[in-house]
Amino acid sequence: MLRFVCKETERDLTNDELRGLFPEELNLLEGKTFENPVIFLTENSRVFLKSDKEEEKPVSIDIDYELNYHSKTFKETSINKQPLYKAFGLPKGEWVDDLTAGLLGDSLLIYSMGLNIRAYERHIVPQIMITNALKNTALLDPTRFHFFPKGASYLLDEDLTGRTLYFDPMFEDPNHKTAPKKEMRIFRSVVTVDLDAEELLEKLIAKRPRRIVVKRPMKSRVLGRKPSHSIEGKSTRYDVYL
Ligand SMILES: C[S@@+](CC[C@H](N)C(=O)[O-])C[C@H]1O[C@@H](n2cnc3c(N)ncnc32)[C@H](O)[C@@H]1O
Repeated sequence: MLRFVCKETERDLTNDELRGLFPEELNLLEGKTFENPVIFLTENSRVFLKSDKEEEKPVSIDIDYELNYHSKTFKETSINKQPLYKAFGLPKGEWVDDLTAGLLGDSLLIYSMGLNIRAYERHIVPQIMITNALKNTALLDPTRFHFFPKGASYLLDEDLTGRTLYFDPMFEDPNHKTAPKKEMRIFRSVVTVDLDAEELLEKLIAKRPRRIVVKRPMKSRVLGRKPSHSIEGKSTRYDVYL
């Protein structure tokens, strides 16, 4: 069950309040049922995913905060040296399809490196969070960032020639479990595991896009077949399929 609870008064928003404040988010829920208990706290026009643990802070996506953070970082360090930028091998202004948008962390990093983003997300909870975040940004250029609240498998019906895909599914190597950051724990427990990740990757490779970059924890096994090459960061590895 999905609830929207006012952070200040701690009561559920009425349908009229929801329709007035969050019409786009509500549209996403149309015709969908959601069994698991999820609570969104609302504060003015923003939604926050409430954790089931009191000690954990509610999670939200603050696009302007993240863009400012990256902009500062890229004043101090060169974008060309970023492992992810190297993995794409693309000049600024080109488009990347982020197949697994999640909480937009990677989408916004890639965008901040000067690339444009088509972001896909299939789970209703991050879909709501992303839609809400996009309404609350003053800095993101909508001509450079497009969001599709649907599964990336729809790309299997498209011509992917020349396209650059980025894939970061929720898929753990049982031999190399990594502890999620505190704020990611509740998100992970809601979204659970992407069991179809290997199969989708294989089908996407068969479509022969320009390249697919798969994000993996450093010591985890590769998601599917052996990549063409890998670029290593501090704790992350980018497996590149050409
Ligand atoms: C590990 S999270 C991605 C985190 C993201 N890279 C970030 O920085 O916030 C994986 C996300 O991808 C979504 N996802 C997995 N497979 C997908 C697919 N085939 N199409 C669209 N979304 C997918 C999941 O619902 C989940 O939200």
